[in-house]
This record gives sequence, C-alpha cells and structure tokens, in this order.
Amino acid sequence: MVKVAVMGHGVVGSGVVEVIMNHQEGIMKRSAAELDVKYILDIREFPDLPYSDKFTKNFDDILNDDEVKVVAEVMGGVHPAYDFTKACLEAGKSVVTSNKELVATKGAELLKIAKENNVNYLFEASVGGGIPIIRPIGLCLAANDVIEVAGILNGTTNFILTKMIREKMSFEDALKMAQQLGYAERNPAADVEGHDACRKICILASLCYGKHIYPELVHTKGITDITLSDVSYASAWGGVIKLIGQVKKLDDGTLDITVEPMLIEKSSQLANVDDVFNGILVRGDATGDVVFYGKGAGKLPTASAVVADIIDCVQHLKDRKFVFWEDGDESLVKPYGETVFPVYIRAECSDSKAAAAKAAELFADIKVIGRAQAPENELAFTCGAMTAAAQEKAVAELESSGVSVRSKIRISDL
Ligand code: HSE
Repeated sequence: MVKVAVMGHGVVGSGVVEVIMNHQEGIMKRSAAELDVKYILDIREFPDLPYSDKFTKNFDDILNDDEVKVVAEVMGGVHPAYDFTKACLEAGKSVVTSNKELVATKGAELLKIAKENNVNYLFEASVGGGIPIIRPIGLCLAANDVIEVAGILNGTTNFILTKMIREKMSFEDALKMAQQLGYAERNPAADVEGHDACRKICILASLCYGKHIYPELVHTKGITDITLSDVSYASAWGGVIKLIGQVKKLDDGTLDITVEPMLIEKSSQLANVDDVFNGILVRGDATGDVVFYGKGAGKLPTASAVVADIIDCVQHLKDRKFVFWEDGDESLVKPYGETVFPVYIRAECSDSKAAAAKAAELFADIKVIGRAQAPENELAFTCGAMTAAAQEKAVAELESSGVSVRSKIRISDL
C-alpha cells in the first residue's frame, strides 16, 4: 500500500480523489500497489464527503509523515504551491502536479531539487488536460530534433471562440458557461488574455529544447479583441481564428515563440479542433507532423493525467526517471519585432479604395478580402510576410493617413 497526499480539493483535486477511489483495481494492476489517499490538504471544510476524515489544514501533517511517498499538488498558483512542493521534494517525496503556472515559472529549479533528492517531479496534467503530451515529447519523440510545436492549448478560449462562431453567443455568456463547466482558471483573465496558453507553450518549449523558457519572454496576446467581423473575414479568406501557442526553432538557433490569435486555413488539422478540445502539433525532423487531440480542461480529463503521474511515481519509487531541463535566459528567444510572418488587417476608413491603395504602398503583396454585409467604411486585407516591427511601422503610417486599424492577426502556416 502506497500512501499519497492530495494538496487542494478544487475541481482537479476532487477529481483526483474520485479517480483514485473509483479505479482502485486497475491502478493496483498497473502499479502493483494499492494507493491510499492518506491526507487531503485544503483550508475549506468538506464535512459531508464519505472521505471527510482525510482532510487536514496543516501542511506539516503531510511533510512530516514518512509514510507519504507521493504528493499531488493541485492547488494552482505559485505560492504556497512552490514552497510546499520544494519542501516535499527535499523531504524525499515525489510530487506530481497540474499546476502549469508553477512549472512554467519554477520548473528548472524544482526539477533540479527533485534530481538532487532522487525523487520525481512530474507534470503531465499541466499541458493539454487529459491529452498525453509531456511523456510523448520527452520519451516517444526523443530521437527527433523538434522543429516546431504549435497548438490550441487553452480549452476555455477555444470553447468561447466556438460558441461565438457557431451559436453567435456573446463572449461574456460563453465565458460564464466555461466557468460553470470547470474549464476556466480561478481568475479567467489568465485564459482570455493568453497567459495560461503561454505557460503551456513555455513548458513544451523547455521540454523540447532543454532550457527553461520563462513566460515573460514570450509575446502573449489573448482573444478579448476578436470580433464577429474578424471571424467572418477569416471564413471568407478560407479559415478560422484560433488562439495558438507556437514555438519554432529558427536557423540561427533562437526560438520564435508566441501566443496569439491566428488565422489558420480550414484544411489545417487544428482548424477543426473545437469546444474545450485542445490540439497540439509536434513537427519532428524524423517523424514529420504528429498531432495530439483531446479534452484540454475539465475535472476528470485533468485528474486522469495527475493519477497517471502518481502511478508512474509509484512504479519508480526506487529507480527514478527524470524529466529535466536547465535554467534559461532571454538569449534563447528571438525578439518579437524581428520575427517574420504574414498578417490580416481590418480597418475603418472614409474611402476604402483610397485606404487600399495606401495599404498597398506600405505592406507587401496585399490582397483585399470581402464579406457579406460589410459596412462601406471597412477595409480588410492580408499581406505577405514582414517583420512584426515593419508591420507596426506600416500600421502607424496607415493610421496617420486617417485609417483606423481595428485588428491585426497573424496568419499561420500550420
Ligand atoms: N483553464 C485551462 C484551460 C484549464 O481552459 O485550458 C486546463 O489547463
């Protein structure tokens, strides 16, 4: 019997306890040991649960109990999750987590501490909810040089965009629904402003390239400015708008890493990833494209990945298996202004023909797009690849000619 502790009894934590209790037999077969949840740490009271006796408010109960070998940290946030995780690893306990914020900000340090203490720090649930992605990248694709990873990494925003596009639901109503379904973060700004997807692409990039990529180095934009007219132009262009986290290795060895809404062609595999589903494309030099698809958020999908990590820890209590990356710095990341890509632009103007002529002077290879019921004072066009800095300069010049740019969205090559 292996004793485990669960820190946090929110959406994911309660799912972890439920999955362990409902799958005892299968877990026992796979890990050759019975799992017993000895403690659940939470500051709230849960008097009416069949396992209410397991709750504690005191972290030291877990830390000082040598019987507890594996701890699931599903509290979220950096503090006190970081302090508790560090203390557990230093005390010789393996830790598993769904906490992408913590892995993305302190991963290199915690992995080092785990290694020094000969225990595991595993975080399959931190990216893609129930989709296996950390192990496939770290193990199954280990023979490849990863050229690119790109994906829909946030279930909440994908759910919102799908509801807006298909059902013309308002942004606010779709977000409320995502919260009720347990998809959104405690502070949903982390979802809609792109920070959650940023943390996830940082984890994947760190795993692929062996150096910690910190979130503050990544150009991050969410979906709050996306309008139904942009959605309609995207459709007329032949694609859809998705919030994409992407990292590409450039020829000079730096990484083009961003999180932003992108136009993707309808023929792309990611174009049909809807609702709370995530889709992650990994481009290996040997494999070519490999795509992972599944539910990216929610209680049981995420709990499934956490419990799989617990089982892995139990199977490797003696022979450790290390996931590892080193500390990194800003020299790894190409400054956003220097990255090169094509864009879509939507603008308001008094004379759309004159505005299109001005745009043609400023941007490379423009193509005007039309849509049904477009107002007369609206201009939308795509332009060929330019650096982000050159685009900003061209936008400023276009605006100084009396045209108001309302949207600028990257066009992806996925
Ligand atoms: N809020 C996150 C999402 C939860 O919507 O993807 C899963 O990481």
